[in-house]
Amino acid sequence: MSTINIAIDGPAGAGKSTIAKMVSAEMGYIYVDTGALYRTIAIYLKENNIADEDIEKSLENADVSLKFIDGTQRVYLGDRDVTGLIRTPEISMAASRTSAIPAVRRHLFDLQQKIARENNIIMDGRDIGTVVLPDADVKIYLTATPEERANRRYKELSEKPDCPSYDDVLNDIIQRDYQDMNRTAAPLKQADDAVLVDSTNLTLEQAVERITEIIRERI
Ligand code: DC
Repeated sequence: MSTINIAIDGPAGAGKSTIAKMVSAEMGYIYVDTGALYRTIAIYLKENNIADEDIEKSLENADVSLKFIDGTQRVYLGDRDVTGLIRTPEISMAASRTSAIPAVRRHLFDLQQKIARENNIIMDGRDIGTVVLPDADVKIYLTATPEERANRRYKELSEKPDCPSYDDVLNDIIQRDYQDMNRTAAPLKQADDAVLVDSTNLTLEQAVERITEIIRERI
C-alpha cells in the first residue's frame, strides 16, 4: 500500500508548521517538521565545536532521529531529546547556514524519505516538493511578505523575555530567506507543480481552509 505524501515548502515564518499541524491533526496524518533535523545538526556541530573542514566526517556520528508521540514530533540527537533546545534565534540562523552544506543534506535525505514511505504525512521544509518528495501527491508553496512574517514572529516573541526588536526580527527573516533561496544545494523555490498560497492577507483560519481545500481537491 502506498502512503499519501503532502509537501509544504516556503520561507521561514509563513505559517507552515502551525497550518500543517492543524491540517494533519484533522486528517489523521503525521506532521513532519524537517527544519528540526537541520536545527539538530546545528546543535550537534555547535556542542562539539566542529570546525568547517571537519563537518562532513563528523556527520558519521550525528545520530539524528524523529519519534512521533501521540502524533507530536520529538527530535533526538543520539538518546537525547533536543526538541526543546532547537527553537532559539541563534539556532535558526545556524541551521540555515548548516543546511547549505551538501553533506548535511545528504545525511538527512534517507531519513525523510523513509518516514514518507512508511506513513501518511504532511512534511514541511524548503526542498520537500523539489528534492525530497518530487512525487508527492500534493505540493503547496506557502509564502507571505517578509514584513508580515516578521510581524507574526515579533508578536510571538514579544510575550517572552529578551524579545528582539521588530527590525532585528525582520532582518533575520530577510537574511535567512536570502541564504535559503541562494544556496547551491536544494535552494528554497516553488516546485513547478506546487500550488502557491500567499498568506499575507489571510487569517490563520482562512489559510487552513485554503490548504485543506487544495488537499481535498487532489486526494
Ligand atoms: O523550518 P525551520 O525554520 O525550522 O528551518 C530551519 C532552517 O533549516 C532553514 O533556515 C533552512 C533549513 N531547512 C532546509 O534547508 N530544508 C528543509 N527541508 C527544512 C529546513
